[in-house]
Amino acid sequence: MAVKKMWGGRFNAVSPEFAQEFGASIDFDQAMAAEDIEGSIAHVTMLGSTGILPAGDVAKIKTGLQDIQKDLEAGKLEFTVANEDIHMNIEAILTQKIGPVAGKLHTARSRNDQVATDFHLWVCHRLPEVISSIDGLQKVILKLAEDNVETILPGVTHLQHAQPISLGHYFMAYFSMLQRDKERFQFNLKHASISPLGAAALAGTTFPIDRQQTADLLGFQSVYNNSLDAVSDRDFAIEYLSNASMLMMHLSRLSEELIIWASYEYQYAEMDDAYATGSSIMPQKKNADYAELIRGKVGRVYGDLTSLLTVMKGLPLAYNKDMQEDKEGVFDATTTIMGSLHVMNGMLSTLHIKKDNMAAAVQNDFSNATELADYLATKGLPFRQAHAIVGKLVLKGIQTHTPLQDMPLSELQAASPLVEKDVYVDLDPKTAVERRTSFGGTGFDSVRQQIAAGKKLLSEVE
Ligand code: ARG
Repeated sequence: MAVKKMWGGRFNAVSPEFAQEFGASIDFDQAMAAEDIEGSIAHVTMLGSTGILPAGDVAKIKTGLQDIQKDLEAGKLEFTVANEDIHMNIEAILTQKIGPVAGKLHTARSRNDQVATDFHLWVCHRLPEVISSIDGLQKVILKLAEDNVETILPGVTHLQHAQPISLGHYFMAYFSMLQRDKERFQFNLKHASISPLGAAALAGTTFPIDRQQTADLLGFQSVYNNSLDAVSDRDFAIEYLSNASMLMMHLSRLSEELIIWASYEYQYAEMDDAYATGSSIMPQKKNADYAELIRGKVGRVYGDLTSLLTVMKGLPLAYNKDMQEDKEGVFDATTTIMGSLHVMNGMLSTLHIKKDNMAAAVQNDFSNATELADYLATKGLPFRQAHAIVGKLVLKGIQTHTPLQDMPLSELQAASPLVEKDVYVDLDPKTAVERRTSFGGTGFDSVRQQIAAGKKLLSEVE
């Protein structure tokens, strides 16, 4: 059926249904219904207090919008593609409720500043939720670090055993990554919390509006000081997606390690049954599906970011319909990061760590070779020479299946007369970890310092 459009005054034809469907955004922008109503209530309140609209009209419109808000909460609102987007759907519903006076709501406003306002508000509303979920995951990680300061496992580079490290140290590395993620989202609020409302179509308005008032009513921190920028800026959304991408990158690295650790070859850790799945054919299987899915979902968030960067590239000022493509990626990324944070939280809180297997892995892997080189360097040998001597010993050890700490003193002394009996203390993996007390190192005390600093950071958020 051909419904006359709100903007249809100068049109003699209505687009065919398939084209209307193509142009409509109601299927997804209805996610911003609450923000749209909130924005309209603030706008009409301002139209009243500035005397642009008479108090009687304002009261009717406000009551109508509040009614719609209740209907929304009760799940009673019905939207139509014929009304294109959330803005015109809400206005149409308002018109049904209160009659033609509803048409006054759009005084001194355009859908261009309206959609920007809704989108800004939507992101502002989500940011505290995202930040608090990151914070929640950091708490779980901090607890794991605290419980595992003296749990030792091979630290790896190139996925090859490098030097033994504290498992607490490992977890605190992820704590720090998440801290930066959190800080990026906190900063994101500065740019999301700027009010575009009142920029109107692109040039501002001749009505004596009060942009500061609507900004205050909506809880925005500031007001765009250029109307063209106000309606065409989506930087805050790109920043959000970039932050989300970086967060997912971190979660995928953690997932990858958990997957490796849960493998038969490693057996450093096992997911709780609640966070693993079985195979429909192989009865013995226990798969780390959830970790894999988090790792896999990074792709869609990167896609969301790439998509919006591409949509915005080369767009002339001010509003262009292309920008309707800004929302789905942000919604999708939000669902993805919230779900991933939640699942990672549950998976880590229930993770079974196999400390004995981790400890066993540093026994015969020559990961104490640096200790011997450092031992010789401490005794005055240039480190390069020490490195070469130990390298030869390692080669011999590999051939004879003898780790450095099991080699007799005479053999070590044959390699360098600087070696004395106390070398065996240095060759113990526990000593190797304990002694790395340089700031930020894996030494137990250093890890405890990191944990104490981390606790302080978490308490600052509460
Ligand atoms: N649905 C549109 C969007 O999401 C609303 C703004 C439309 N403005 C316009 N001039 N066509 O971008």
